[in-house]
Amino acid sequence: MILAKDVSLTYIDGTKALNNISLSIGMGELVYITGPSGSGKTSLLKLLMGVEYPTSGLISVLGQEIRREQSRNIRKMRKAVGPVFQDFRLIKGRTALDNVMMGLRFLGFSHKEMKEEAVKALTEVGLEHKITSPVENLSWGEAQRVAIARAVARKPALILADEPTGNLDSSNAINILNLLTSLKKENTTVIITTHATHLIESQKNAVFIKLKDGDILDVIRG
Ligand SMILES: Nc1ncnc2c1ncn2[C@@H]1O[C@H](COP(=O)(O)OP(=O)(O)OP(=O)(O)O)[C@@H](O)[C@H]1O
Ligand SMILES: [Mg+2]
Repeated sequence: MILAKDVSLTYIDGTKALNNISLSIGMGELVYITGPSGSGKTSLLKLLMGVEYPTSGLISVLGQEIRREQSRNIRKMRKAVGPVFQDFRLIKGRTALDNVMMGLRFLGFSHKEMKEEAVKALTEVGLEHKITSPVENLSWGEAQRVAIARAVARKPALILADEPTGNLDSSNAINILNLLTSLKKENTTVIITTHATHLIESQKNAVFIKLKDGDILDVIRG
């Protein structure tokens, strides 16, 4: 599902975000990536989404090699990915429902199916009462849950969630983690970056990857 060998990422301004990391993640694994601010968590997710390419080393996601020459195939690979961005990337002026439905375009759903799946996902994140609200009227935590619903509704093979609990109170954070981790049963691979180590340390059957200064300090299979 994901294989990385000696992968480094240096941004064009010379910042080294990841140094020679190697990883192997299988189908249906639940992976938590932790580490201080600036340690490279978002950078690693960007590589896995194929929006950045490794400066050196080899990385493949869902059988697709991540390198510039493969950009067309990487776009196809992304149909099987459900991204949750740290800054949500919702479309302003549109409702919660529209935003989740927009995440379902180009996946072969009919309009009716898109609507049904979007309503279902919004209900799962506890926003059935906000379906017709424009996203700019939502609280920060509600907007975050729309972003999560948009990813989950796609029924992706791989969820890449960047700080999905960052702005939620602990009961909503636990609900969201439960929702994301329940996808493991459907053999979805779920990769979550988080600072909320207190919420995840008791998790069983998960992989914990600790980053620091672009290095993998530790990979623990719990
Ligand atoms: N587009 C970019 N250009 C240059 N440097 C970048 C860019 N994006 C990130 N960086 C740098 O790369 C390093 C890793 O950043 P990254 O965003 O991956 O950290 P993070 O672990 O996600 O942090 P946080 O917990 O604050 O979200 C940091 O030094 C950051 O300043
Ligand atoms: Mg980040």
